Formats: sequence, C-alpha cells, structure tokens
Amino acid sequence: MRAIAVSEYGATPALTYLPRPEPGPGEILVKLVAAGLNPLDWRIADGMLKDTADAAFPLVLGADGAGVVEDAGEGVTRLRHGEQVYGVFTDVERGRGSYAEYAVVREDGPVARMPASMVYSEAAAVPTACAAALDVVERAGIGEGRTVLVAGATGGVGQAAVQLAARTGAKVIATARADTAGTMRRLGAAHTVDHTAGDINDQVLAVHSAGLDALVVLAGDTARTAELARLLRPGGTCVSTVWTADPDTMAAHGLHGVNYDGGPTAAALDRLAGLLDAGDLRVHLEREAPLEAAPDALARNRAGGARGKTVLRVL
Ligand SMILES: NC(=O)c1ccc[n+]([C@@H]2O[C@H](COP(=O)([O-])OP(=O)(O)OC[C@H]3O[C@@H](n4cnc5c(N)ncnc54)[C@H](OP(=O)(O)O)[C@@H]3O)[C@@H](O)[C@H]2O)c1
Repeated sequence: MRAIAVSEYGATPALTYLPRPEPGPGEILVKLVAAGLNPLDWRIADGMLKDTADAAFPLVLGADGAGVVEDAGEGVTRLRHGEQVYGVFTDVERGRGSYAEYAVVREDGPVARMPASMVYSEAAAVPTACAAALDVVERAGIGEGRTVLVAGATGGVGQAAVQLAARTGAKVIATARADTAGTMRRLGAAHTVDHTAGDINDQVLAVHSAGLDALVVLAGDTARTAELARLLRPGGTCVSTVWTADPDTMAAHGLHGVNYDGGPTAAALDRLAGLLDAGDLRVHLEREAPLEAAPDALARNRAGGARGKTVLRVL
C-alpha cells in the first residue's frame, strides 16, 4: 500500500510502499479515504515521542483519518464490514498511522461511526482538533456569563474551541490577524484581538476591562502565556495545549494552570458526530491535497498561518 513515512526521526517524510496491515484480535482494518493533518504529525516525525515510545520504522505519519471498515479481527462486535468510520490511527510502536491506504485500530479505541452529514474529507479533519477543543472548553470551565480568551484561535483546534465556547453562552475573545477576524466573529467570537499588531493584553482590556475567567492557549511560548494569564481574575483557569502553563506559579497567584494532554475517545467522537450533524459545530477545510503531497502540506503547517484544517485524499 502507499503510505507517507519517515525512515528515522528527523528524516524527510516520503512516499513509501508497505505491506497492508492485518487486523489482530479486537482490531478493525480500515480502508482510508482521507487523512487529517495536525501539527502533532510533524512533531512525531521530528521525534517528540522518542523518549516515551519505542517506534518502529518506517514510521507511517498521521493520526486522524476516515474510511470504510474492510476487515475485522476475532472478537470484533461494535463495528461491521462496510461501515463508515473516523478516528485516530496512530500506533508509533508498530510504525502505523493514517497517511496510508489502510490502517488498523482497536475496536474499543478512538474510532466511531462517521457523522452522517459529512463526507470522508470533512470527517478526517475532526478527531484530534475537535476532541481537544471539546476537552479544553470543559477543563477551562467555560460557560454562560464567563469570558474567555482563545489564543491561537484561527487554526484547527481554535476554530472549534471558539464555536464550542460561544455555544455555552460565554463571551469569547479570539486572537486573529486582520485577514481572518471576520471569520472568527462568524464562528461566535464577540471580539478579536490581533496578536501581530501591538500588545494583546491592552487590546483585550480595551474590549473587556473586567478580567477573564478562562484562557485557552493554543499557540505561543511560556512567557506569552504568563503575560496573558495576568488578564485572569482570581480563581481563573488557563488551559494550554502547547504545554506553556506553569501550574505552580499560577497557583501561587490564585489561578489554575493546566497543560492539556489528551486524545479523542470513541465517546468524544460520538459526541462530536452529534454536534456536527446538528450543525452546532462546523469544520473549515482550508486545503485538500493528494496523499503524495503530504511532505509539502506538513511543511506548510510547520511554517504557521493555518486557517482551518488540511486534509489528504488517500484514494
Ligand atoms: N496536547 C494535546 O493533546 C494537543 C491536542 C491538539 C492540539 N495540540 C497542539 O495545539 C496547537 C494548536 O493546534 P492546531 O491544530 O489548532 O494548530 P494549527 O491548525 O496549526 O493552528 C495554529 C494557529 O495558531 C496561530 N498562531 C500562531 N502563533 C500565534 C500566536 N503567537 N498568537 C496567536 N495565534 C497564533 C496560527 O496563525 P498565525 O500563524 O497566522 O498566527 C494558526 O492559525 C498545536 O501546537 C498542536 O500540536 C495539542
């Protein structure tokens, strides 16, 4: 099968021909139609997991994907041959990922029936980003009457987080460059602040002087996060998906700091399918490209400036 893989950590991703994986007991084999790209994919290729997992090479890249159940191992009961599914297919220790024609996942793992309203390329864009958005909105305690700043709002996680936060009744302030401020307001942001045009804290205070209840950090470094945390009211919560929160320092200032490290579950994927099918959450595909263009797509994502999701067509 065709796959995009690295021969070692740090190597350039390349088109590789590999044997089709076989599903073991409790596993399903999925014929992938589309794979979703996340920053995590190039981070794994760079070696992010090298101290925590024993990777097999060639290592197929990619986590998110959508396709059709092609085969099932012994004991599989929940998902049947021919069903349309979406989920997370990373298995670094077996060198497997979603940038491939076939992938294997445990039936009790992060896989679920696709949202009925979506085509494969849309569903492949959902799992990692939207599940993270769902989690961070909950962990940050965002709800009616609360005010949240989403920093890094214009990418895959951010666009979902802005919609989900606004849906709770919270007032959402989103970072956005001028080119995308209108999009962020259409997704539910009450205000936008431009992280490339002057001090963000001053811009936030200009539109909301009373202090924030929550801060969701999806981009930037620890110094930037510490600066933004000054906008929080006592008791406020900062959740960072980029591990830039300093929980101890924040606790000393009466704040909660959380570095998010999660991943989609089947239950979260089912919940997301409900939201997507109801029209309560939308996913914007910024770019679709053939599987062979993955190296270029990864380089583009690494360079920054994402305005939605990138999806690779596998078929
Ligand atoms: N820990 C976890 O389990 C987990 C789960 C999901 C995602 N993540 C991480 O969360 C981050 C966001 O993911 P994503 O999929 O949304 O990434 P993405 O689609 O690549 O989007 C990142 C967005 O952040 C913006 N940005 C960059 N620097 C910024 C800054 N200093 N201030 C405000 N905005 C900035 C970018 O736009 P501009 O470049 O135009 O500013 C871009 O729109 C990634 O680093 C990802 O690896 C972690």
